[in-house]
Amino acid sequence: MKGVILVGGLGTRLEPMTRITNKHLLPVWRYPMVYYPLYTLVEAGIKDILIVTGGNNPGGFLELLHDGREFGLEHLYYTYQSAPRGIADALRLVNHFINEEPFVVVLGDNIVNGSISPYVETFREEPLGARILLAEVPDPHRFGVPAFDEDAEIAEIIEKPADPPTSYAVIGIYMYDRQIWEILPTLELSDRGQYEITDVNNAYLERGALDYDILPFEWTDAGTPESLRHAVELARTSPFLSELPIGTQD
Ligand code: G1P
Repeated sequence: MKGVILVGGLGTRLEPMTRITNKHLLPVWRYPMVYYPLYTLVEAGIKDILIVTGGNNPGGFLELLHDGREFGLEHLYYTYQSAPRGIADALRLVNHFINEEPFVVVLGDNIVNGSISPYVETFREEPLGARILLAEVPDPHRFGVPAFDEDAEIAEIIEKPADPPTSYAVIGIYMYDRQIWEILPTLELSDRGQYEITDVNNAYLERGALDYDILPFEWTDAGTPESLRHAVELARTSPFLSELPIGTQD
């Protein structure tokens, strides 16, 4: 299965730290932020990885990661998002790399304190529809939040609800089959001027093709001063993250 890491965007919630550099190059404990989502994919056995960059310092990822050898990869692929119009918009750019295959997307500011391998395996065995991951969080209003029906199936996902129906966040790791290529052209710009990944997931839901798992370990994003600080603390204290088992670039 192929993987995609999204490291575009302007990172405005981390101004002025992101005024001259890309959010995903900022330090999180002892590594640049992008190391964690890259490790998450590699650890789950994904070796064909496309990095979608944009915003400030897009070339920094090539300088930092080269061909991915440090992570045991033979190649890394790069592409460029010219306008920051949302996660779903960035996914339009990966069609040429993915073709009709199932794939995993990871947002470049998402840090998980454990292996996603079991969930990737489930999708690899039956790569139909979409599979999302949920994590319990203290501040669900900042994220996509699922509402459940009486059978514990997701009834709807609401983006940044003022009054969250549950304390779960839809984290920024998504698995999709080729139906996404039918869904993306149907999306409309949201109030915040973006093509929303939540609209993609709700479209899968309407097709009866959305599944989910709940993470048994901690997850955080790192896109605000508070969550970045939390991410540093998580990375510093976690046996899984504090020293990534990676090699050198030589
Ligand atoms: C995005 C998604 C949101 C998701 C979050 C995970 O939010 O829109 O549904 O819960 O990533 O990190 P954003 O970071 O664009 O506010």
